[in-house]
Amino acid sequence: ARIGVLISGRGSNMAAMIYAAKASDCPFEIVVVIANDPEAGGLKLAAAEGAPVVALDHRGMKRAEFDAYLHAELTAARCDYVVLAGYMRLLSDGFVDKWAGRMVNIHPSLLPKYKGLDTHQRAIDSGDRVSGCSVHVVTAELDAGEVLGQTEVAILPDDTADTLADRILIAEHQLYSRTLANFVTRNVRPDALLDQVRDLAL
Ligand code: GRF
Repeated sequence: ARIGVLISGRGSNMAAMIYAAKASDCPFEIVVVIANDPEAGGLKLAAAEGAPVVALDHRGMKRAEFDAYLHAELTAARCDYVVLAGYMRLLSDGFVDKWAGRMVNIHPSLLPKYKGLDTHQRAIDSGDRVSGCSVHVVTAELDAGEVLGQTEVAILPDDTADTLADRILIAEHQLYSRTLANFVTRNVRPDALLDQVRDLAL
C-alpha cells in the first residue's frame, strides 16, 4: 500500500514508520511526506532516508484552499492511504470526505478519553494509573473515528506530563506501524489480491 504522511513538526512517528517500511515483509511504503510548515524538522530526516518530501506553507491560505494543495500532492504520489503523524492543523470536511476510511491518526491517550490537546496533564490530574496511545480512523469529528489499536502505558507516581509523554511516544512508534500494517492488509481490494495470486502463479 502507498502511504502519504502528513507532519507539522519533528516527525518521530513518521521516522518510525519509514524504518518499519524497510522490512521486506512490511505491507506499506512511504511514497510522500508532506509538511504544512517548511521548517518542520521531520522533513530533513525524511529526505535523508530518500522519501520524497513536499514542504508546503499554510500561512495566508484558507483551509479549503490549502487542503486542495494537499490533496493534489497526495493524488500525484498515487497514495492509497493518508497517515497523520503530529499533523497539527485541522482538516476541512471536504478533504476528510475524500479520504474517508483511508486516513488514520495517532493520538496520545486511550481514546475515547482525553480528545484534543494536553492529554498527559489531563490524565495525571485525573489520578489515572494508566494512559497510552490510540490509532484511529479520521472522521470529521476530532479524535472520534473508529479506534484501530491502542497501547496502555503505566503512569508512575512521579510522572510529569513530559516524562509520561516520552514513554507514551515509545509506545506510539511501535503501535502506529503495526496498526497501519494490519489496517492496509485488512483493506486489500479483491482485485489487488488477484494480482498477487497471479504474480505468485507466474
Ligand atoms: C505525538 O505525540 C502524537 O501522538 C501527537 O503529536 C506528537 C507528534 O510527535 N499527535 P512526532 O512529530 O511524531 O514526533
